[in-house]
Amino acid sequence: MVGPGDDAGVFRYKDTLMVETVDIITPIVDDPYTFGAICAANSVSDVFAMGGTPLTALAILGFATCDFGPDVIKRLLKGAVDKLHEAGACLIGGHSIEDNEFKFGFAISGVVEKKNLLKARGAKAGDILLLTKPLGTGILTSAVKKGKVKKRLLREVIDSMLSLNKTASKAAVSAGARAATDVTGFGLLGHALNMAKGSHINLIINNDTVPLMSKVKELAAAGAVPKGAVKNLEFCSRNSYFSENIGEGDKLALSDPQTSGGLLIALPQKGVKKFDHAMKKGSGSYWVIGEVVKGAGKIIVQ
Ligand code: CO
Ligand code: CO
Repeated sequence: MVGPGDDAGVFRYKDTLMVETVDIITPIVDDPYTFGAICAANSVSDVFAMGGTPLTALAILGFATCDFGPDVIKRLLKGAVDKLHEAGACLIGGHSIEDNEFKFGFAISGVVEKKNLLKARGAKAGDILLLTKPLGTGILTSAVKKGKVKKRLLREVIDSMLSLNKTASKAAVSAGARAATDVTGFGLLGHALNMAKGSHINLIINNDTVPLMSKVKELAAAGAVPKGAVKNLEFCSRNSYFSENIGEGDKLALSDPQTSGGLLIALPQKGVKKFDHAMKKGSGSYWVIGEVVKGAGKIIVQ
């Protein structure tokens, strides 16, 4: 029912809609338990982005057996299992391979009810645009790695990456959202563009309302961003229009690749109250960052 190009594939088997996705990342934090948990939150996110419920997980692990002992792997898996449990999913197997570069992730299987299915396409003119996590995981983790900012700034980033998109997904479904996607490797701009193209509409993003983590604005303005942000911006530039007041730093922050980022949701105006209520009930946060207008797949940042 849904093929490549969305957050997850959806396959109908008899009366069941299966949601299938896989995601693998390289370490972004030192602590194995925390990294395992972030990997799990990041992998189940694609199922939540489809309005689905994750059920089972298969772990995929690549590591050099001479560099990492069983203790590290045990803690990595414990972090993962705990986070999967919080998401409502169960680790039922996996595969490991000898690899010089450490990597870890999951293939996740879930289900979705047909009426709840949220594709990345489907946004309509008049919808408002919501984002459920601040941006900056790529910029901050790379700045900490390079020693440009204090390590304690990572706390906010880690908490954000650890938080599941479950509440946001349920809120979006119950409020009648028309489209949703999670903001990950292509940055807000890239994922917004995918939504705009797929939905045959334009998206207006009001830059001042886009939430950023601490120091991200300053770092981006100084050009201290990961390569991925530059690449994403390059890729999106052809289909994006920026007002004169939008600087290079703003553009880079909007293009920052996210790990375990929030949901970008197109919601009809009439669903706002219900969404707000559901998010408050689940202690989730969100920001109104723009709106959907008629068009042919462009992003307007003003
Ligand atoms: Co995704
Ligand atoms: Co993904």
